[in-house]
Amino acid sequence: MSTLAVPQAGTRLRFPAGFWWGASTAAYQIEGSAGDDGRAQSIWDTFAAVPGNIENGDSAETACDHYRRYAGDVRLMAELGLTAYRFSVAWPRVMPDPDAKPDPRGLDFYDRLVDELLAAGIRPTATLYHWDLPQAIEDRGGWAVRETASRFSEYAAAVANRLGDRVAMWNTLNEPWCSAFLGYGAGIHAPGRTSYADALAATHHLLLAHGRAAEILRARCPSAQVSIALNAGTVRPATGTAADRDAARMIDGMLNRIFFDPLLRGSYPSDVVEDTAWVSDWSFVRDGDLAEISQPLDAIGVNYYQPDVVAAGDGPLLPYPTRGRVSWRPPDGPVTGMGWAVDPSGLHETLVRITRDYGSIPLYVTENGAAFDDAVTNGRVHDPARIEYLRAHFSAAHRALADGVDLRGYFVWSLLDNFEWAFGYGKRFGLIRVDYESQERTPKDSAFWYRDVIAAGGF
Ligand code: FCB
Repeated sequence: MSTLAVPQAGTRLRFPAGFWWGASTAAYQIEGSAGDDGRAQSIWDTFAAVPGNIENGDSAETACDHYRRYAGDVRLMAELGLTAYRFSVAWPRVMPDPDAKPDPRGLDFYDRLVDELLAAGIRPTATLYHWDLPQAIEDRGGWAVRETASRFSEYAAAVANRLGDRVAMWNTLNEPWCSAFLGYGAGIHAPGRTSYADALAATHHLLLAHGRAAEILRARCPSAQVSIALNAGTVRPATGTAADRDAARMIDGMLNRIFFDPLLRGSYPSDVVEDTAWVSDWSFVRDGDLAEISQPLDAIGVNYYQPDVVAAGDGPLLPYPTRGRVSWRPPDGPVTGMGWAVDPSGLHETLVRITRDYGSIPLYVTENGAAFDDAVTNGRVHDPARIEYLRAHFSAAHRALADGVDLRGYFVWSLLDNFEWAFGYGKRFGLIRVDYESQERTPKDSAFWYRDVIAAGGF
């Protein structure tokens, strides 16, 4: 349980001293400079080039031009008073040729970024894999094949050697559920494959890659924390019937327990193996793999957006191999610009559940935030809905702290408006608005509000 004291002063919510206040981004969504300094093609470049895959035909070739504007972006972070910044490293910049040595030019960029952050007093928090697999590795089978876990170890070692003396916290992977189930199962994320068997194999190989990288990071970066960011969520049955509860069990298994169990207990949940036996015999799991996967971790990152509400019957529930036995219920309350439910109770429930079921491990909210249709008025962006969203979710996190969850920090998604994957630039999650024509940055009202929260340690 939490080792940090949770001060409660009147109606004000105060977070523990030393709480990390951050914002998150991902390389592919902000960097641009897609062909610069030897960067190779990633699966998202390939996927985005197919007409119809990305709304509006948007491309991330320039994105927020952060690769060239990073110093100014770090200045903006410093003005907000961020104490941590979570970014991702682009594998195709570091290892453009999977058979050759790392490219120093790609590593140079992250080296400069990390130094800039440290000079501004901001803890660098690096994610090794936020979905941008080098296309050359996908061409050899991608995450569906075991070899990719070995390639990832080489990449992880290259990054650790270069940045390991300065990065404060590592996330090996970001949301491996999305990589596996959306990328290889539903085909709505890169690489756009539609095989449930491949999705399950990809899940295992991602976890194996995580375990091996965690071991490397721990050995080479002894003062850094080693973690993984999971899209953990609360799965609720639509009604209390046994059939709906069973549907929720099945989806919770394929969303949460399929990752948490091997990571923290060293085994896959037997009900998930049974539920998916019709698509795979799980023969990709070899002796010794689970010991590698269940490396000790310093923390778990939780990316939370909304709960899932599910019911029995009449699928399809696209990403999940449920044989049409489960269907999703749309939110019936307020939603964000993504149509995602605004439900902070799900964050509290998720944090408490992880602690209850897996024991007290330090947790960080590594992503939470909302897209809304922001309007610019006289050079200002008034975004009260985002402020309300953040206030409600910070409150839920504070309740989890008070309930004994060892929550150490919070990263808002996202620092900047950016390339929102299959939705392109239409969805704006940033604390800071980006004008994609001029690349002008405008902190929104929510950024100023967040700055005040950080300065006060609460609100
Ligand atoms: C998460 C992703 C992140 C961003 C947010 C909105 O699933 O990790 O890159 O797209 O959703």
